[in-house]
Amino acid sequence: MWLIRVLALAALVAAVPPEGKKAVEKKAASGEKKLSERANALADRSTNLAFNIYHAVAKDKSVENILVSPVVLASSLGLVSLGGKAATASQAKTLLSAEKLSDDYLHGGLAELLSDVSNSTARNVTWRLGSRLYGPSSISFADDFVKNSKKHYNYEHSKINFRDKRSALKSINEWASQTTDGKLPEVTKDVEKTDGALIVNAMFFKPHWDERFHHKMVDNRGFMVTRSYTVGVPMMHRTGLYKYYDDEAEKLQIVEMPLAHKLSSMIFIMPNHVEPLERLEKLLTREQLKTWLSKLKKRAVAISLPKVSLEVSHDLQKHLAELGLTEAVDKTKADLSKISGKKDLYLASVFHAAALEWDTEGNPFDGDIYGREEMRNPKLFYADHPFIFLIKDNKTDSILFIGRLVRPKGDKMRDEL
Ligand SMILES: *[C@@H]1O[C@H](CO)[C@@H](O)[C@H](O)[C@H]1NC(C)=O
Ligand SMILES: *[C@@H]1O[C@H](CO)[C@@H](O)[C@H](O)[C@H]1NC(C)=O
Ligand SMILES: *[C@@H]1O[C@H](CO)[C@@H](O)[C@H](O)[C@H]1NC(C)=O
Repeated sequence: MWLIRVLALAALVAAVPPEGKKAVEKKAASGEKKLSERANALADRSTNLAFNIYHAVAKDKSVENILVSPVVLASSLGLVSLGGKAATASQAKTLLSAEKLSDDYLHGGLAELLSDVSNSTARNVTWRLGSRLYGPSSISFADDFVKNSKKHYNYEHSKINFRDKRSALKSINEWASQTTDGKLPEVTKDVEKTDGALIVNAMFFKPHWDERFHHKMVDNRGFMVTRSYTVGVPMMHRTGLYKYYDDEAEKLQIVEMPLAHKLSSMIFIMPNHVEPLERLEKLLTREQLKTWLSKLKKRAVAISLPKVSLEVSHDLQKHLAELGLTEAVDKTKADLSKISGKKDLYLASVFHAAALEWDTEGNPFDGDIYGREEMRNPKLFYADHPFIFLIKDNKTDSILFIGRLVRPKGDKMRDEL
């Protein structure tokens, strides 16, 4: 008798298709792979940088949409500290709250963090990322620097001749476009200071929702940039169980949407009504985010999101200077001699350019939930006016992206009234 049961059990085990088993094991492995202490330490530091850089950029009144990847920016600061000496290097570490960390710990930790969070295979999201350091044509890059910046931060190096500015700009933009599969056609129309080094990060990120939107439930709606200016955008809709919080005192809503494999999630923070985002931005700190997240409760939420692509390019050079990176950007003071062997270089621009595509794609989900009691009376989260968003890593709590959507692409709609 027991023999038959053992045999039956063996047959059952054998019946599990090898692909299915492998997929499950792989998923578990990527989710459970623990990061080292130093990678976790740098994840934590990069989160402070996220809020600091967001506020610095938001202060600039000419900026509408914002899109920054703090972990990528952290790696660019790692690069500055790798190539710098004296205060040029130590200020980059200070921006990362890493003054007390050894260089090996810093570079190793950032490298591990970046390669883990940007691993598209393990994370089931699309994240194309290219980083390049451009130097004037007179420069010769030091071998050690080229080797280490490639190893830790996947940086490429290139000389650029700005005497022919048009073709120089063209080659930067073409490289960015290639790096992002054409999703980011342009990093910049112009470069003001052509006598220094340029850092360029070019990215394309596309979240793969843990539960997809129905691709047919997309229609045209208005997005109110301001009370009196509305643009037409395609809007996608879905109702599901999400972590949600209605902050009645601050008149805002927060919803967290997991991305595939639940390794990261997108968090939306939106005022109840159309208003400039300054009021919310004053509230936005690391501590406040933690408080809000602790109040989220899983419940039925009907979500409507613009199905748009957001392309934003920031020159973060002056914002980094505001945060304390004053030496590297100053031609008379910068010491980036580990890059070139000479004290002949300063940081003229830090282009941080990204495209983020909100689409319906994601994993299939269990349709049976729609019959359930808990799906009745969903809260409405209707994102038809400016909001703040973050993409947070579930494993390290680091912030992969932080930004705001103020003005989506779209044509002005006729005022109703
Ligand atoms: C990305 O993740 C996959 C699956 O977990 C793994 O096999 C691969 O080595 C990782 N790649 C990098 C660059 O870490
Ligand atoms: C995510 O996973 C699904 C199925 O597991 C697959 O079809 C899709 O191509 C993956 N997407 C990315 C960006 O890896
Ligand atoms: C984070 O991961 C845990 C464990 O896998 C999971 O239970 C949780 O739902 C995830 N959170 C999000 C927001 O995806």
